[in-house]
Amino acid sequence: MSQQKTVSFERPVLRGTLQVPGDKSISHRAVMLGSIAKGKTTIAGFLDGEDCLSTIEMFRKLGVKITREGTDVVVESPGIANWQTPTEALDAGNSGTTARLMLGILSGSSVTSEMCGDQYLSKRPMKRVTDPLGLMGANITSEGQADYLPLTIKGATLQAIDYDMPVASAQVKSAVLLAGLQAQGVTSVTEQVVSRDHTERMLMQFGANVKQSGKTIYLQGGQQLTGTDVVVPGDISSAAFFMVAAAMVEGSNVTFEKVGLNQTRTGILDVLESMGVHINILDEQGLSGERYGSVQIKHSELRATEIGGDLIPRLIDELPVLALLATQAEGQTVIKDAEELRVKETDRIEAVATELRKLGAIIETTEDGMIITGPIPLTGGTLQSYGDHRIGMMAAIAGLITSDPVHIDNPSCIAISYPHFFEDLSSLVKH
Ligand code: S3P
Repeated sequence: MSQQKTVSFERPVLRGTLQVPGDKSISHRAVMLGSIAKGKTTIAGFLDGEDCLSTIEMFRKLGVKITREGTDVVVESPGIANWQTPTEALDAGNSGTTARLMLGILSGSSVTSEMCGDQYLSKRPMKRVTDPLGLMGANITSEGQADYLPLTIKGATLQAIDYDMPVASAQVKSAVLLAGLQAQGVTSVTEQVVSRDHTERMLMQFGANVKQSGKTIYLQGGQQLTGTDVVVPGDISSAAFFMVAAAMVEGSNVTFEKVGLNQTRTGILDVLESMGVHINILDEQGLSGERYGSVQIKHSELRATEIGGDLIPRLIDELPVLALLATQAEGQTVIKDAEELRVKETDRIEAVATELRKLGAIIETTEDGMIITGPIPLTGGTLQSYGDHRIGMMAAIAGLITSDPVHIDNPSCIAISYPHFFEDLSSLVKH
């Protein structure tokens, strides 16, 4: 992809149906658990985004056979006990989920490995996982700055812990649980605010016994996983960009098919509803332990809302594009309790505010969120992606409502989670 992409449509309207690519979080976990398990796992609907490809490459370096059969990904593993010591560093690329979950998995394996990441990931905090893993007896060391990639992980015998999560993060929860799978004893993780639960659901799909009581999850160490077939639903975090587009572009009406509807991820639908958006959910069903269905979104008059508290982990990745939506809503939208945005692929509070202000938006930043005043007509301009896929896509969606074109610098990062984003955008836009 070129170094700049321009979004410029003459009075666009979004109409039609769209099946967005597979869920990123579920795709990672399917490859991870398929590789920990002994035997064969077939994954349908896998997301071919760069982050998930980084996960696949890591396991290939550990001696797991991962191939394609048509559009399926097939994982054939000798099981975690029989992985090979990699001869090269395991590269997590831009993917925080790969890095953090793999730190948990590798800590209890029998191999020694070095893990690295790209320039952005190397600045993201790993202490949130190395701390609890250290309590379990993990041997993770650094030659550079402690608790940042690159890190060396020497597989060790782990002990179960009871962990109270200091931060609402599915990556931390998952790292501890996946380490707990190899540990001696019963590991428990207690959340203050519930985060996405794909790891727990998928562990069960692979035959593990996972117990839950209130906000605590219990996992007995030493359980063997068995390869299985997984169907990955569409990623609601990817659909979110076009949901917002449909909600704010006059005359729009878009149906998203086979999109994931896991309750820990559907915060965006709650917020759209509270802003006055017409939503229809059709054909809801379950598969591979996850809910999915069709979601129809129509353009609506928008009103401001407040987004905070328990909602935040249920829509954390959707906040950049929801901030854009808020610029078109009547009143002041307040986003709070979202300080985690500051440690994403980039500081998403500063990035969103800086870029949308270039188009004329009125946004005040706070330590843990933003206050957005609307409705404000937006002009065109050149926006930066900061190498962050979700900032790049937010900029592209902004281009649907601006008076002049939006140019996006460094758009190639969008392939991290949505390789055919611009093709899907063009397919929905009717004049
Ligand atoms: C993810 C969890 C979230 C989310 C990320 C994917 C996961 O991060 O932002 O895109 O797959 O577990 P945190 O766990 O750090 O909140």
